[in-house]
Amino acid sequence: MPSVLVLNGPNLNLLGRREPGVYGSTTLAEVEADCRAVAAELGWTLEFRQSNQEGELVDWLQEAGGRQQSGGVVGVVLNAGAYTHTSIALADAVSGAQVRMVELHISNVHRREAFRHHSYLSAVAAGVIVGFGVAGYPLALRALATLLPADPAGG
Ligand code: DQA
Repeated sequence: MPSVLVLNGPNLNLLGRREPGVYGSTTLAEVEADCRAVAAELGWTLEFRQSNQEGELVDWLQEAGGRQQSGGVVGVVLNAGAYTHTSIALADAVSGAQVRMVELHISNVHRREAFRHHSYLSAVAAGVIVGFGVAGYPLALRALATLLPADPAGG
């Protein structure tokens, strides 16, 4: 069974406690459980990770790209948190590793401060899910499934 990676960037470990008016009261562990159920439904194993370190996220994107090329990974859902708005390194990792990536934001970043309106990741994303709260995570998994090439064996 191929894996799907859900990668979370800085401060998302605080989900549920952090600015609940913006991000809601659901914890990251609860989001992971939701994602696990949807991934199973889609025929995938979920690998759900969070890091506050930009370089660790780069390493994981490179790993995902390598595993995608050999068929072991279908792609990545990436909520890069604030690195979305700052990190050329993450964008380079996505394009360099040729990983299929859906960009995700819990909040509608376009309704927020101007510095959140630009994303370095959108230009290298297959698609973007923004502003649906934590419900965006399972939506992003389902969106990723629509992007996969049809299996000629029908399985
Ligand atoms: C976020 C939006 C970012 O602007 C912010 O820095 C985050 C979370 C979101 O999921 O809405 O950490 O990516």
